[in-house]
Amino acid sequence: MSEFWDETFKGEKMIWGQESSNSAIIIKDFFLEHNVTDILIPGIGYGRNAKVFCDNAINVTGIEISKLAIKLARKNISKDIQIHRGSVTEMPFDTKNYKGIYCYSVIHLLNKYERKSFINNCYKQLFFDGYMFFIVVSKKANMFGEGEKLSKDRFKIKNGLKVFFYDEESIKKEFNNFGLISFEEIDEPVKHMKNEPPLKCFLIKCQRNE
Ligand SMILES: C[S@@+](CC[C@H](N)C(=O)[O-])C[C@H]1O[C@@H](n2cnc3c(N)ncnc32)[C@H](O)[C@@H]1O
Repeated sequence: MSEFWDETFKGEKMIWGQESSNSAIIIKDFFLEHNVTDILIPGIGYGRNAKVFCDNAINVTGIEISKLAIKLARKNISKDIQIHRGSVTEMPFDTKNYKGIYCYSVIHLLNKYERKSFINNCYKQLFFDGYMFFIVVSKKANMFGEGEKLSKDRFKIKNGLKVFFYDEESIKKEFNNFGLISFEEIDEPVKHMKNEPPLKCFLIKCQRNE
């Protein structure tokens, strides 16, 4: 997997542009209102979403599988940003607890066993009362159903990535035991491409309660 992502970021390509997604901006405000000043971002990429948190004095630790993405993130944000290199399926990478976790467009890349253990590992890295947010692709996205079907709601899409598409039922099934508070449908504008329809996603919010 790391080869695929290194290839994607080759030549310092920031394939999704530099603007943060709408969800990152909204959740940054939520974290500031709730005094969350230290967060974990699994699958941090080259930092386009991390930047909005860092610019608002929220300390960010990242996890990322691609060494090229990490290099770009250090260039874009700060050479001192803490990013653990490895797969989110091997969490935890540190013994810290966090008041917040923000994870954009990563969990749906995992298979069902990996997703379950990833959600559990994120939950365990939260302080009691801490919040975790996941932005996941929805079955309402245009690309749902395209490519080779691997299992229920999971497809190998054009670029070769394996993607699980969520709906209300699968969100409840996977997150109910991990402090699920709410989930809502959101449209994430594809800001780096003109005339591209927004990506249909879900914003999932959980809070550690035990
Ligand atoms: C769709 S991109 C989203 C990037 C980033 N979250 C953002 O908001 O810009 C997925 C990112 O997760 C990384 N990634 C994919 N699978 C991973 C894994 N198993 N563990 C850690 N990082 C992973 C990729 O290298 C890539 O940077």
